[in-house]
Amino acid sequence: MKILVINGPNLNMLGIREPKIYGSRTYNDLVKMCEDYAKECGVEIEVFQSNHEGVIVEKIQESYEKIDGIVINPAAYSHTSVAILDALKAVSIPTVEVHISDPDTREEFRHKDFVRLYAYKAIVGHGFDGYKEAIEDLVRNYSK
Ligand code: DQA
Repeated sequence: MKILVINGPNLNMLGIREPKIYGSRTYNDLVKMCEDYAKECGVEIEVFQSNHEGVIVEKIQESYEKIDGIVINPAAYSHTSVAILDALKAVSIPTVEVHISDPDTREEFRHKDFVRLYAYKAIVGHGFDGYKEAIEDLVRNYSK
């Protein structure tokens, strides 16, 4: 099984950006945690980050028939991007959405979430552990 983890804009700034909300661990810590956990689960993983909507759309398109499960934290694009939603629908790959914080308890503009219309599950407010829970869920439900 091959899992792709996609992180959207500003997640490369983890450890620096708003530590009271996102914690003090860095983006590299997140990548290593996902890679270590995938190894434990016996699955292949790629962890990807981009600050650009179109690059994320292209990455999702390239996953067609190559990737068995997607973990996505679209970050701010969750609340704005019909293009990312449409790309996920196009490739039809089982997807879990993750947010480090819980956007539903934050500002009103974070309550709208386009990607959640496609993801079969959303894990919010569990910090970095949410990524592990998402990987675990994909492995449990979709590993072949
Ligand atoms: C986030 C929540 C989003 O509202 C925000 O724009 C982010 C990070 C999270 O992981 O909690 O950049 O996706």
